[in-house]
Amino acid sequence: MVLIEVKNLVKRFDGHTVLKGINVELHEGQVKVIMGPSGCGKSTFLRCLNLLVQPTSGQILFKGEDITGPGVDIRKVRQDIGFVFQHFALYSHLTVQDNVTLGLRKLRKMTARQASEKASHELERVGMFEYRHRYPAQLSGGQKQRAAIVRALAMDPSVLFLDEPTSSLDPEMSREVVSVINKLYLENVTMFCVTHDPHLAKYISDSIVFIDEGVVLEENIAERLFYDHPNPRIREFFLGVIDLK
Ligand SMILES: Nc1ncnc2c1ncn2[C@@H]1O[C@H](COP(=O)(O)OP(=O)(O)OP(=O)(O)O)[C@@H](O)[C@H]1O
Ligand SMILES: [Mg+2]
Repeated sequence: MVLIEVKNLVKRFDGHTVLKGINVELHEGQVKVIMGPSGCGKSTFLRCLNLLVQPTSGQILFKGEDITGPGVDIRKVRQDIGFVFQHFALYSHLTVQDNVTLGLRKLRKMTARQASEKASHELERVGMFEYRHRYPAQLSGGQKQRAAIVRALAMDPSVLFLDEPTSSLDPEMSREVVSVINKLYLENVTMFCVTHDPHLAKYISDSIVFIDEGVVLEENIAERLFYDHPNPRIREFFLGVIDLK
């Protein structure tokens, strides 16, 4: 089933057109990675999809409903999309456990006990159960990012958006997060993930959407995109990734 269908999405900021007609589909259980040069509009694209940014024109069908149209329940749409950012937006005054249970209690209206059971289950899933009583300041960057992923997943969203989940981490912590995301991929969690990291892109994606100059220049599997691509622009961008072969 098609979960998200983006048709001719355009976003203009103050006369500067960032997205010039993006067409992408995301099926249930599929993982697509968004790549492209800095400033090409990857974050803007994700933000349009959960209406943090208002699209200028085009259509975004979420479960068949055009969410750019009038009368859309934006809160409902957002609650169905888990969002993980580059800088883990955990509440610093709450433990890992309480970061996870907060949304379950306030938005999902679970009792403290139900929320705690759900949180424990989700924390186990990414190997974070033993850190549940720690505060964010007592965690490594990789652990913080895993906690942010758990918090998003605990809400049982239909799709998880990740915007550069590893870019503020050193290589070791980054591998830790890549392996968690890879596990979710193997569990068929539907994801859109923006990254500059070819390792992450290769290990978690069904396909990679390469955006340049506001359009999708190509969508293809990692092997086709990374190595000896006929388009000089794409070849130049992935120069050096050859080591991953
Ligand atoms: N709220 C805004 N107001 C005005 N311009 C914006 C706004 N948000 C983004 N832009 C512009 O849109 C363009 C795309 O930004 P965006 O953050 O989506 O790029 P990106 O591909 O995610 O870049 P990076 O790889 O560096 O994260 C940039 O030129 C940016 O300055
Ligand atoms: Mg960005």
